[in-house]
Amino acid sequence: MIHESLLQAIGETPVVRLAAFSAETGLEVYAKLESLNPGGSHKARIALGMVRDAEARGILVPGSGQTIIEPSGGNTGIGLAIAGNILGYRVVLVIPDNYSPEKQKVLRLYGAEVVLSDSRLGNNSHGEKAMELQLENPGYVMLNQQRNAANPETHRRSTALEILRDFADRPLDCLVAGIGTGGHITGLGEMLKARWPSLRVFGVEPEQCDLLADRHAPHEIQGLSIGLVPSILNLEVLDGMLKVAKADCLERVRRTMRSDAVSLGLSSAANLVAIASLAGELPRGSRVLTLIYDGVDGYLPHFE
Ligand SMILES: Cc1ncc(COP(=O)(O)O)c(C=O)c1O
Repeated sequence: MIHESLLQAIGETPVVRLAAFSAETGLEVYAKLESLNPGGSHKARIALGMVRDAEARGILVPGSGQTIIEPSGGNTGIGLAIAGNILGYRVVLVIPDNYSPEKQKVLRLYGAEVVLSDSRLGNNSHGEKAMELQLENPGYVMLNQQRNAANPETHRRSTALEILRDFADRPLDCLVAGIGTGGHITGLGEMLKARWPSLRVFGVEPEQCDLLADRHAPHEIQGLSIGLVPSILNLEVLDGMLKVAKADCLERVRRTMRSDAVSLGLSSAANLVAIASLAGELPRGSRVLTLIYDGVDGYLPHFE
């Protein structure tokens, strides 16, 4: 298949049945490998989706060299850097100073400008710093993935449609997904529940956090629980939250790479830890879908 640019290669990710994990849990567990998107995560979809939406509104003009600023722990930043390079925008990314130096290097290699925020100021330190920079530079365009309706909308129009097509003859019982901006759980939860009304949707969060009680705490599972209840998160899609411990996620990365041979980061492992905790509760053989957001490469310091 030939694409005119890398942007056309975003989406249409494969779903794999995790055979070993399914045997372990007694469930039928399927994983959509968003890690195989250009840039290595599901965030390529929303980066492009938000840029295209801003262009449709006349806020961004392709080839203009306008500056896009975004607080991103890495993955959305990579997606924006890719879209910016191909569509003609400068990209400034604000990321917490405790995030992996490898991810920072990757962002710089893509040509993005990286600004570090002080992680001691909380899990949303990069969001606050980006806001400051945007106020100082009113010409900068902040797409703001935490508030941008194009984030869940991109998942409604692409990720969800792919899932509905692929599972047309095997209805899903359950979706288990992490919550950062809430973009994908909202888009997928709404669309999948519309097709399969009995489907249950579980959000995943670090054990220290409690989204539904609006309680936030520092944690080390990058991408999840960003220190606030995001405005684009549709709480109505949630049937419950499942808590996971970082140590269990690390162990799950090791086990999954040796058994089902899927490379995965901590937040993706968190989904599997959460599914394992549901195993006794769901009827045997229930079909559970989850997502692998990114691969292990950006998390190697956790394994040394
Ligand atoms: C690695 C990783 N996992 C999970 C998420 C959560 O996805 P969402 O923002 O759609 O809730 C993110 C978001 O930044 C992420 O980068």
